[in-house]
Amino acid sequence: MSTTSLNAFWMPFTSNRQFKSAPKMMKSAKGMYYTSEDNRQILDGTAGLWCVNAGHGRTQIAEAAYHQLQELDFASSFQMGHQLPFQLAERLIKHTPKGLDHVFFTNSGSEAVETALKLAVAYHKLKGHSTKTRLIGREKGYHGTNIGGISVGGLDANKKYFDCLLPQTDHLKHAWLPGSEFSKGLPSQGAELANELESLVAFHGAENIAALIVEPIAGAGGVWLPPEGYLKKLREITIKHDILLIFDEVITGYGRVGSAFAANRFDVIPDFLTSAKGLTNGAIPMGATFIQSHIHDAFMRGPQDLIELYHGYTYSGHPVSAAVAMATLDIYEEENLFNSALALEVHWQEALHSLKDLELVKDIRNLGLIGSVELYSGDNVGDRGKQVFNNCFWNENTLVRAIGDTIAMSPPLIINPSQIDQLVTALRNSILKLTP
Ligand SMILES: Cc1ncc(COP(=O)(O)O)c(C=O)c1O
Repeated sequence: MSTTSLNAFWMPFTSNRQFKSAPKMMKSAKGMYYTSEDNRQILDGTAGLWCVNAGHGRTQIAEAAYHQLQELDFASSFQMGHQLPFQLAERLIKHTPKGLDHVFFTNSGSEAVETALKLAVAYHKLKGHSTKTRLIGREKGYHGTNIGGISVGGLDANKKYFDCLLPQTDHLKHAWLPGSEFSKGLPSQGAELANELESLVAFHGAENIAALIVEPIAGAGGVWLPPEGYLKKLREITIKHDILLIFDEVITGYGRVGSAFAANRFDVIPDFLTSAKGLTNGAIPMGATFIQSHIHDAFMRGPQDLIELYHGYTYSGHPVSAAVAMATLDIYEEENLFNSALALEVHWQEALHSLKDLELVKDIRNLGLIGSVELYSGDNVGDRGKQVFNNCFWNENTLVRAIGDTIAMSPPLIINPSQIDQLVTALRNSILKLTP
């Protein structure tokens, strides 16, 4: 590809100039493997970007998109409709925790988050609590890149350049304590970190706080697991103070942790649950915000001809996205994929933790089919992560993700034990190449 054609596309979350000097390009994908432009089979250790949960190139999904495009390419969901998003919503809520019975469709995780944040503030206003507007997030949290999402997010780099963030936000400390290194599954210590929310309530007053948003497992911030009992504590405190709880499950949704959603596995029911990615197996953009009935019902009042909420997207409930999501759900259900991460969890865990003997490994974290290996940083933070990512790609034919010096992994849920071993061997070989 010529330099000119590489230049026109400003790539997201990418060191563009460095990438374009040695582009990593894929040309096709099937099952657990990408094929790179130089014709190598690359084991996908990241499910694309935490989204291709059922593996690549699923014929059923491609056919669903093709047929839908021929049948009904587009119909708006503003004051008119078509069957698919209604059917999809009905099917999806069978998998969500009790009470999360309504779905607002978006195009992305960022929009799913923005929808939940706006609904939370609007709900309190409707209930007559118009001062309940503050939003609380958490350090290292990632909630997409819209202004609301980066305001409640806890990643400083994403806020650089922006002085126009939402003014009324706070952030809990991130839920990890020193001494939790190499925990297998959830760290046993740290549930009390949830009590910091009580301090924020004491400081601002519950009457001024609308919602708390957390990822049950923080992903893009480096893969951080909640301590045992921490999320339940957050739920207790939020209920006590009438603060709405939003679980951002954009990466943990659709089987990633061995249940349909992390909320199911952790047995905590939030007021909102945001999702995207695995909803369509990454094949087409779509997000979904699940909403508790009591919140939805609060809006459904007043004159019948009233538009209850002035919010939505041209492509909310897009027919092709909905058809793709339906086909994806067929696969998840037929192949029991929401349980497969649980079945593979011990193998995954033991394989990852076998890297503990390496001198440069600082911590290993895992749950379901999420895992991360944190390296001690060298002189420049992030260099070692990048070197491992590059070596895995160019020399080990394996795709992993570098978040600073943490290597994050989230393979498709169809991975088998020998492919897990292959992934971990690639990682071992790449870490061994680093200079201590
Ligand atoms: C937890 C979480 N929320 C929101 C988002 C944003 O999703 P999108 O990139 O589809 O806007 C992501 C993306 O990685 C995410 O991990």
